[in-house]
Amino acid sequence: MSKNKKTILTTDPSLAAKTLERGGIVLFPTETVYGIGTDSRNLQACLEIYKIKGRPSDNPLIVHVSDWEQIRRIAEVPIGIEVLLQEFLPGPLTLILPKKDPLVFSAGLDTIGVRIPSHAKTREMLRIFAGPVSAPSANLSGKPSITRYEDALEEFDGKVDLILKGEEPEIGLESTVLDLSSEIPKILRPGFFELERLQTLLPKLIKEASGEGSERPLSPGMKYRHYSPNAKVILAEADFPPDLQAAAIGIQISGGWKSHFSAKDNLEYMQNLYSFFRDCDRKGIERIYCFPPEQSTGKDAILNRIRKASES
Ligand code: TXA
Ligand code: MG
Repeated sequence: MSKNKKTILTTDPSLAAKTLERGGIVLFPTETVYGIGTDSRNLQACLEIYKIKGRPSDNPLIVHVSDWEQIRRIAEVPIGIEVLLQEFLPGPLTLILPKKDPLVFSAGLDTIGVRIPSHAKTREMLRIFAGPVSAPSANLSGKPSITRYEDALEEFDGKVDLILKGEEPEIGLESTVLDLSSEIPKILRPGFFELERLQTLLPKLIKEASGEGSERPLSPGMKYRHYSPNAKVILAEADFPPDLQAAAIGIQISGGWKSHFSAKDNLEYMQNLYSFFRDCDRKGIERIYCFPPEQSTGKDAILNRIRKASES
């Protein structure tokens, strides 16, 4: 898609809300990754997001709202869930729920994914707009998500109506997707909030490995290639030796690479994975070795994204 729009660059959430009100497309940071969003009840604008991203049309968009009252307006919320999940929302958790408002865009499904971002400025934009905002991660389809303002500008200046500048994402990987639309709750996409932690509240919770390969994937997005830089991504064995032609990322790794990122823990690994992928592409690096994360919070999400990025 060509870059021919005059994109407003601002730190003002009310200007972003006004742009949403007139059917515009807004790029905004969240605590996970940047999103590219528009009014969920504006079909044309929702379809334009698919065009800008090159996104397959059967992959639904997550609906972002400012609070639980907004969730209850657009979706059927199981009794007791709000109290149960109060420590997770606002935060990096998406709930799949039966859809209630027929005007909210759902790519033809009878469920919607909803989430309340904890990012202060973006939540303020949502509060002022006072309606649902459909937003997938802001990246061209198949590419790594965006976690830095500079990458947002490079990829989307001239393609969207407004880019909201605020605090950069602190988590760096997309939200946990939790399906509450059927009797057995399932995790469809791992994220910062993990199975074991959510199981303390939802004892029946299971992990739906990925949904790939089945006839009708539970989370349509899981069947597509994802998160991939131009470079080849390889999940490395812990003792793989440095290679001066390649790049590497991992926990406390040493030099000897063309480029490397040594994270002090899983949190820093998550925060830097996508920006490292993007930096490697800028440097024309052809292979990126990703070392296994620590056995602690974030492990499933990091391994999931590395595995997806290494599929070709
Ligand atoms: O952290 C995040 O979740 C970011 C920020 C921007 O909020 N958003 C994001 O959106 O990662 P996206 O579109 O890249 O990923 C959404 C995932 C996809 O795998 C999609 O198939 C799934 O959620 N999803 C959305 N609605 C669904 C539904 N009704 N049923 C099952 N899966 C759904
Ligand atoms: Mg995405």
